[in-house]
Amino acid sequence: MRKVSFAEFGGPDVLQLIDAEEPHAGPGRIRIAVRAAGVNPVDWRVREGQVLGAHPIELPSGVGLDAAGVVDEVGEGVTGVEVGDRVFGEGSSTYAEFAVLGAWARMPEGLSFEEAAGYPSVVETALRVIREVGVRPGQTLLVSGASGGVGSAVLQIARDRGIRVIGTAGAANQEYLRDLGAVATTYGEGWVERVRRLGEVDAALDLAGSGVIRELVELTGAPEKVVSIADLGAPEFGVRFSGVAGSVPVALAEAVDLIVRGKLHIPVEKSYALTEAAAAHVDSQAGHTRGRRVVVI
Ligand SMILES: NC(=O)c1ccc[n+]([C@@H]2O[C@H](COP(=O)([O-])OP(=O)(O)OC[C@H]3O[C@@H](n4cnc5c(N)ncnc54)[C@H](OP(=O)(O)O)[C@@H]3O)[C@@H](O)[C@H]2O)c1
Repeated sequence: MRKVSFAEFGGPDVLQLIDAEEPHAGPGRIRIAVRAAGVNPVDWRVREGQVLGAHPIELPSGVGLDAAGVVDEVGEGVTGVEVGDRVFGEGSSTYAEFAVLGAWARMPEGLSFEEAAGYPSVVETALRVIREVGVRPGQTLLVSGASGGVGSAVLQIARDRGIRVIGTAGAANQEYLRDLGAVATTYGEGWVERVRRLGEVDAALDLAGSGVIRELVELTGAPEKVVSIADLGAPEFGVRFSGVAGSVPVALAEAVDLIVRGKLHIPVEKSYALTEAAAAHVDSQAGHTRGRRVVVI
């Protein structure tokens, strides 16, 4: 089968499309014929060798966590899913024709593979950070970096729970944030004052890692009211860095519920062929993805 792989850590040009042995579903796992794979920043962080500590990587390595496709092997002990089912979930080496998933859910009717591939990691992360920051219905949550994949999920989950959101994004994404129910303002020069003018903030999330932890603590009044997923320096300010994934099956079940109720839609910014994985990484690394990018197979 065709699979995107890298034999050394480095820039996007280390990615190669190779012929590889097909993987098979071990106990508790399923294999899918991949139709689309989500492109997450962690994919290029792993490719660069940035996340060696958390996930030891053996080279050569495949790329990709999230995928959507059609089940074609069901491992020992797996129940509730059959060959031919359309599923989305998380596994490994998903930029490939076949991939093994460790967590999955049936795709809701009407959802395309392309769109579905963008949900698993971002919804898990969004649910986790909303829980960890402890924001409650009726309160105001400030989200720095609100237009990306995780931000898009946070805004919609917050709206569904009755949490008011103030989001920062680039000028091109102000209308997008408003469409997702947030009060929008731009980041950059003067952003703290612009947020202050929009009202009191009860909790804040740093989703962009743009060096704003001190300001988020000032705006909320306390470090325990702030959580970052993108700034490893956050603990220096007493702020929690959230890096340990929660339950993916729980997140997928919540995603399905929200999608079926029409409360969650994460747009696909752009689709790439398997031969264009390096371009997908270059574009993701540029840091201005609205929603999610996907590789289609
Ligand atoms: N720790 C964890 O568990 C975990 C989990 C998931 C993701 N992450 C990390 O969290 C970050 C966000 O992930 P993602 O998937 O949402 O990324 P993404 O889809 O690539 O989105 C990045 C967003 O950052 C915004 N941005 C760029 N510069 C900014 C600035 N100076 N101020 C505020 N926003 C800015 C962009 O908005 P504009 O286009 O509007 O400029 C863009 O929408 C990544 O660094 C990723 O590696 C960590």
